[in-house]
Amino acid sequence: MYKSEQLAHSLKLLIENGTWKAHEKLPSLRQQVEQSGLSLITVMNAYQELEAQGLIYSKEKSGYFVVEQNSDHPTTLHVINETVEINSVVFKYLKSTQSEHIIPLGSAFPNSQLLYSAKLIQTLGQLARQRRSYEQTPSLPPGNYQLRKIIAQKYAMQGIPTDPSDIVITSGGLDALNLSLQALTQAGDYILLQQTIFYGAWQAAERLGLKVITIPEHPEHGIDLDAFEQAILKYPIKVCLMMLNGQNPIGFTVSDEIKLKLAKLLNQYQIYLIEDDVYEELYYDQKKPLSMKYFDQQNWVLHCSSFSKILGAGFRIGWVYAGKFSEHIQHTQLMSTLSVNSFIQNALVEYLSHRHYEKHLKTLRSTLQRYKKQYFNYLKTHLPEQCHVNYYPSGYFLWIELPEQVDSNEIYQHMLEHGVSVAPSSLFNISNQQNHFIRMNCSFEMNEKIQNALNQLIYIIGKSVRS
Ligand SMILES: Cc1ncc(COP(=O)(O)O)c(C=O)c1O
Repeated sequence: MYKSEQLAHSLKLLIENGTWKAHEKLPSLRQQVEQSGLSLITVMNAYQELEAQGLIYSKEKSGYFVVEQNSDHPTTLHVINETVEINSVVFKYLKSTQSEHIIPLGSAFPNSQLLYSAKLIQTLGQLARQRRSYEQTPSLPPGNYQLRKIIAQKYAMQGIPTDPSDIVITSGGLDALNLSLQALTQAGDYILLQQTIFYGAWQAAERLGLKVITIPEHPEHGIDLDAFEQAILKYPIKVCLMMLNGQNPIGFTVSDEIKLKLAKLLNQYQIYLIEDDVYEELYYDQKKPLSMKYFDQQNWVLHCSSFSKILGAGFRIGWVYAGKFSEHIQHTQLMSTLSVNSFIQNALVEYLSHRHYEKHLKTLRSTLQRYKKQYFNYLKTHLPEQCHVNYYPSGYFLWIELPEQVDSNEIYQHMLEHGVSVAPSSLFNISNQQNHFIRMNCSFEMNEKIQNALNQLIYIIGKSVRS
């Protein structure tokens, strides 16, 4: 045994036998060096080993602390203490699938043909001829007042009292998430993520140097509230970032009952939630699912959304219901993007004020529902029986579970060679334990080209399952 392992082992015993209690501070590295006579590097290695085992955690400039042990509930949390590293994987993936010749079944964007709105194009044309649409000043942070008013009214219609001053317009949903996270955290802080989540959340954690605790998905409820509470009791988590409606990549929507319980926990433990709700309009049921903001009586939720999934990501218009963090977020905006495109903000004000928008949403939802059902039926019929296709009534993704021994990264590589992209689960889950899932974009009409692509996928998966 190395000296560092020996030290880690003896410290571990002190934690396990309760000599050191939950959240108690460990001797500093310097004190430990003095006490043990070991070198600084050996002591550091031992502490890092304990941190990796989830027994201790570090707080910037404060030292190391004991993690709370909970023996009633087996630990299912995943701790990523090192800096998150996913951006280069995502970058490589996006580059490899960017060509217009690739059939984009792995894309996060909905089929742009479905987003095309003649009325919006007409509005853009009309505004392009008016000088006032180019005025910059009214669109500076927090963004166009009329646009914020329309967004505030949409919240109010869902029973969420909102003032335009609560809203900050951002360059899409991703910018809203990043700005919110930046407003609430500092490098080295712990945040909580769902184990499998949109890679943008991981990229934001990487960019801001945050440590990540993940909780597993609950097979029935989507969110595992026990794991959530356990994580909060064990780690000094200030902020969580989650998707509760049409979750990307899996697709589930969390029930109102669970959302209400989650809101109570946020309030009880004083934890902020950044809610990523960019798929909020793509539900298939009669009623739009409520956001966590609805259940949030004490302002612990920052709700982020955008028009990207319904009008096109190219417009780059999103927003955050920032409440008291509005000013903080505007400060950060002024140092980075300055303002969101003023011409597009003006055009959206015009377009959203008319009934065409609601009509567009209705058509979009029913088309996506029809396409997704077709893909689902086809895959369910033709994939090997060991595969499971998860279907949820919202959005345009299917989440396909392959047998555990099948590596979805290999499937992605093979499909790419045949000019088709699919999204492997390693883009959404960095634990390296869930490599057997694929996210499929079903927003393209099931024509011969798509059917050939699906047949190729079915063939490649079948081969991997048999080998
Ligand atoms: C879950 C999720 N959040 C945020 C975004 C980013 O949205 P936007 O294009 O509005 O920045 C995406 C885009 O794919 C997404 O899937």
